[in-house]
Amino acid sequence: MRKLEGKTAIITGAGAGIGEATARLFAAQGAKLCLCDVAVESVEKVAESIRAEGGEAIAIKCNVASADEVKAMVQKTIEAFGHIHILINNAGITRDMLTPRMGEEEWDLVMDVNLKGTFLCSKYVLAKIEKGGKIVNTASIATLGNPGQSNYSASKMGVIGLTRTHALEYARRKINVNCVAPGAIDTPMLAKVPEKMREAMIERIPLGQAIPPVEIAKAHLFLSSDDANFITGQCLFVDGGMSVGI
Ligand SMILES: NC(=O)c1ccc[n+]([C@@H]2O[C@H](COP(=O)([O-])OP(=O)(O)OC[C@H]3O[C@@H](n4cnc5c(N)ncnc54)[C@H](O)[C@@H]3O)[C@@H](O)[C@H]2O)c1
Repeated sequence: MRKLEGKTAIITGAGAGIGEATARLFAAQGAKLCLCDVAVESVEKVAESIRAEGGEAIAIKCNVASADEVKAMVQKTIEAFGHIHILINNAGITRDMLTPRMGEEEWDLVMDVNLKGTFLCSKYVLAKIEKGGKIVNTASIATLGNPGQSNYSASKMGVIGLTRTHALEYARRKINVNCVAPGAIDTPMLAKVPEKMREAMIERIPLGQAIPPVEIAKAHLFLSSDDANFITGQCLFVDGGMSVGI
């Protein structure tokens, strides 16, 4: 039995990295997918290749930091599939620099996409989500503190607070809200980290390697399935043990 048969899932930032891996795993588990991204060509390619393998997926251009675009994306999902059962708030960005050099622009952009984007997608999906629905947000190992990521770390800590609060607000409707906190995941985002820093980061992982994106997809699947019906308000670190060693 496929774990997401009959379910409709929205995945943000599905054009690359973790979002793409989650889209492919969810399709294999029978979910109907609304895949959104600002990078429209990438997300269309992911949707197309899922359809070519017999899955159901639509691609939508959507900047999660824009309330109008999020509202339209949720509406299009309902028009295409009739229901929403799962939201994976995965879209996220970095603009790393030490605090003296960080301007308002880098602060605001990261907050807008990572924190406000998670709030907006949750707000408009929660208005439509089915009873028993699941939301999985994305925090990070950087919530434990990381030089050069004050904007990113603060945005992701905000995501944990939002997760706990939405878990309490929607528990009566039997909606579970959790988040995953990835460590160093082998995606285009990690590839942007300068080589020396990346190597030092990977050396600190007790399990000894950068984590393949499909491992975060598996955590998304668990938290989106009936296996997690009594888990809510939690943050699951998928980091090869990195947070334990800190
Ligand atoms: N890669 C890592 O090591 C790592 C570690 C911790 C947390 N994370 C988090 O995991 C999530 C996915 O990361 P990834 O490594 O796959 O990143 P990625 O950069 O490889 O992919 C992110 C996708 O999100 C899209 N996106 C960016 N801004 C958007 C916006 N405003 N609206 C919609 N889509 C947007 C991008 O176009 C891209 O396709 C992010 O929230 C990130 O912060 C990643």
